[in-house]
Amino acid sequence: METARKQNLYEEVADSISNMVRCGTYRAGERIPSIRAVSRQMRVSITTAMEAYRLLEDRGVVEARPQSGYYVRPVPANTIARPDISKEEMNPVMCCVEEIVDMVFKDSMNPDFIQLGATIPNTELLPVDKLSRCLASSVRRKGDLSVSYSYPGDLKLRTLIARRAAMAGCSLAPDDIIITAGCQEAAFLALNAVCKPGDTVVIQSPAYFNHLQVMQNMNLKVVEIPSNPEDGISMDALRFVLEETAVKACLLIPNFSNPLGCCMPDKNKAVLMKLLAGYDIPLIEDDINGDLCFFHERPRVVKAFDDKGLVILCSSFSKTLAPGYRVGWITPGRYKPAIEHLKVISSLSTSTPPQMAVAEFLAGGGYDHHLRRIRRIYARQVSLLTDAVARCFPEGTNISRPEGGFSLWVEMPEYVDSILLYEQARQNGITIAPGPIFSVRQKFRNYIRLSAAFWSERTHNAIKKLGSLSAQMRKQRIVAESAAGIRKNMVI
Ligand SMILES: Cc1ncc(COP(=O)(O)O)c(C=O)c1O
Repeated sequence: METARKQNLYEEVADSISNMVRCGTYRAGERIPSIRAVSRQMRVSITTAMEAYRLLEDRGVVEARPQSGYYVRPVPANTIARPDISKEEMNPVMCCVEEIVDMVFKDSMNPDFIQLGATIPNTELLPVDKLSRCLASSVRRKGDLSVSYSYPGDLKLRTLIARRAAMAGCSLAPDDIIITAGCQEAAFLALNAVCKPGDTVVIQSPAYFNHLQVMQNMNLKVVEIPSNPEDGISMDALRFVLEETAVKACLLIPNFSNPLGCCMPDKNKAVLMKLLAGYDIPLIEDDINGDLCFFHERPRVVKAFDDKGLVILCSSFSKTLAPGYRVGWITPGRYKPAIEHLKVISSLSTSTPPQMAVAEFLAGGGYDHHLRRIRRIYARQVSLLTDAVARCFPEGTNISRPEGGFSLWVEMPEYVDSILLYEQARQNGITIAPGPIFSVRQKFRNYIRLSAAFWSERTHNAIKKLGSLSAQMRKQRIVAESAAGIRKNMVI
């Protein structure tokens, strides 16, 4: 596991300017503030600002122009284009995903691999010691209660989750919440509560592959709605599908979707809610990344716009505190009886001690401070990963611009076969997530998802290796095409 090195002040200044470039505050060719202005704005010394600008020059983000100042270099990562929805296929198909999904997860447990595949947080960034203390003290204090079932979940934890939901625009009571074994179980319960085999579910495309696996297991049909890299699913495409198809549920990750990392604007959330309410279709909302925003306030959830109990909100502490504690939650809305029943018949209760530990951690008041820290680190790592991919991957590569979370969606030139790249990368001790596992139609053949959970020299070298493996595919393609050309000429 890589260790998270403490940043110098000048690196923080450089990262914050890199972020502004990445999210378009300063565009290629534009002048950035002078060293003096930055020193004033960011309350750092002139020397620190100079160091930061030197670092930005080294990273190739800016260039100095004599007598004129510093300008954003015109070689930034190309962004992924909006999908052309007129060319998308949007009829339901049976859900079927590849075994690679299981492999990506299994490989994430193997410390010998350089982890660019699964989006599992870097444990170095998690408050392990504090959580362990909370676990020990709460179990000691609660005695018998700590070994008992805790259905529908620890009351203190449900109360604190309900309080935090206000930041996402929701007014919830502890009784509106059931504690689950992670967000995955929450989505599983929600799908099972509202769908039966053969039903059709609308999802965003690219979609999170574990959601696809659950739907495959339930024999559901899926309609993939193309997602825009800036604002999430295409509302026009969704409108069209709802008019044409009998849809049973909609499953989305509106905030910092996995893998695109984009955030649906509030305006679209309100439209989405109105649209679904018009057809009385439930929305299963996965908000696991909602707390991991880079730039602004924590975004609202679609549930905040729901006055009919149609949204089933699912989330967990897996990305921010402890994936291994398996503490997540679901707000079942009007589907409460069905979801309560499913939770009881599947696992009776979520494990009690981790719930107590998380409740004690939240009550201690350090969670927001912790969130601010990891948001900064993930924003920086996403930025570094973007820079490295832009530099090391072949020409024609386009990269998403996530506003939260820690995954990067990378579109490579047509000649790159991401399944082949996945296999070659594995042979070189690197895991990645190949594009086709994010689609029921096995689209995204030349795309990969990379995780920015870890960053080190080793990760950087892995990116270089992936770049050279991809570039070799172009040569192999040229050789194959010319061989095919020769064969054709011989036949003639
Ligand atoms: C979008 C999304 N939903 C759900 C999960 C599963 O979360 P949990 O570990 O809380 O079950 C993940 C894990 O990576 C995820 O990325």
